[in-house]
Amino acid sequence: METKVYQTDQLHEAAEKLKKGELVAFPTETVYGLGANALLPEAVKQVFAVKGRPSDNPLIVTVADFTMVQDYVDNFHPLTKKIVENYWPGPLTLIFTIKKNSLPSVVTGGLSTAAFRMPANKKTRELIKLAGVPLVGPSANTSGKPSPTTSEHVYHDLKGKIAGIVDDGAASIGLESTVLDLSDSNKAPVILRPGAITQEDLSKLLGVTVALDGHLIRENEAPKAPGMKYKHYAPDTKVLLVKNNDWEKAKVWVKENHLRAGVLAGPTISEKMRYDTACVFMYSKDTAESAAKGLFAGLRALDNKALNLDVILAEIYPEEGIGAAYMNRLKKSASQHYFTPEN
Ligand code: TXA
Ligand code: MG
Repeated sequence: METKVYQTDQLHEAAEKLKKGELVAFPTETVYGLGANALLPEAVKQVFAVKGRPSDNPLIVTVADFTMVQDYVDNFHPLTKKIVENYWPGPLTLIFTIKKNSLPSVVTGGLSTAAFRMPANKKTRELIKLAGVPLVGPSANTSGKPSPTTSEHVYHDLKGKIAGIVDDGAASIGLESTVLDLSDSNKAPVILRPGAITQEDLSKLLGVTVALDGHLIRENEAPKAPGMKYKHYAPDTKVLLVKNNDWEKAKVWVKENHLRAGVLAGPTISEKMRYDTACVFMYSKDTAESAAKGLFAGLRALDNKALNLDVILAEIYPEEGIGAAYMNRLKKSASQHYFTPEN
């Protein structure tokens, strides 16, 4: 199959493909999504097939407006209005209990709940309107690999397997949306996956401490956001997290062991490591926002086989604000491994 790259003035063509049950990737402010008509089970099955995604991991239903959600949900959590008014469209996915059999079970993994998201990207909302149906929208990468933040990343993973990709440049946030569970009206909302809308943001808006559950999930535990249990964001090259005071020691370790090391960090650390490592992927600034935006692109760039790296050394940030989401993804890509001088 030829994978066509559509510009944002070719949305009609892309929407026609989606209506027919073909797969088209779309841009969002978080990462690129792999779109398919959420009401056609055959199309949705293809999404699992091309990503290599386990079928018990439910998909996000991507909508153009809140009215679209009301077709599938009639029992909303009392805080829904406040949250939607503040953060939709935006990088926040909401889990609701759905009307029985209103969505194909292949979308929900057979659960009585479903995840909904209204992305900020206007062109993508227009695409959904033109298609006239909600689109499933998991990240448009091969399952387990870093999520795609550019159309080139999508093309690299899925070329020949999907009908098209709508290109709208690099994602502005770079990490997937915050997932907030609102499925039980009698319970306080819980964050199942940290993202750009932070625990601090939601707690402030709602006047309660919103718990963060997703990152605590361990192996063998039934996770609330099923996707959190799988191996994730993992490049083939080993990744080590480096604490801020350990970069000098890391330099010595790389040299003594004759390693080809790559560095993933902001300007300050990158400059310090530049001449002692094989290559550097520099975030544009020394901020957690900038690190979040560059993380997946950096992991992909440094994992390039041509570089033949032994190890990727990555900068860490305090787990607050968007730093919590950055560290959640980075720790998974490193399987929680930190650099220690004895490594
Ligand atoms: O930013 C994003 O959310 C991107 C863009 C493309 O919209 N999409 C995305 O989709 O990250 P995906 O499929 O990679 O992640 C969806 C997450 C998974 O962890 C999944 O397990 C969880 O949402 N999820 C989906 N339905 C759920 C449900 N009913 N209950 C709990 N978690 C659910
Ligand atoms: Mg994903």
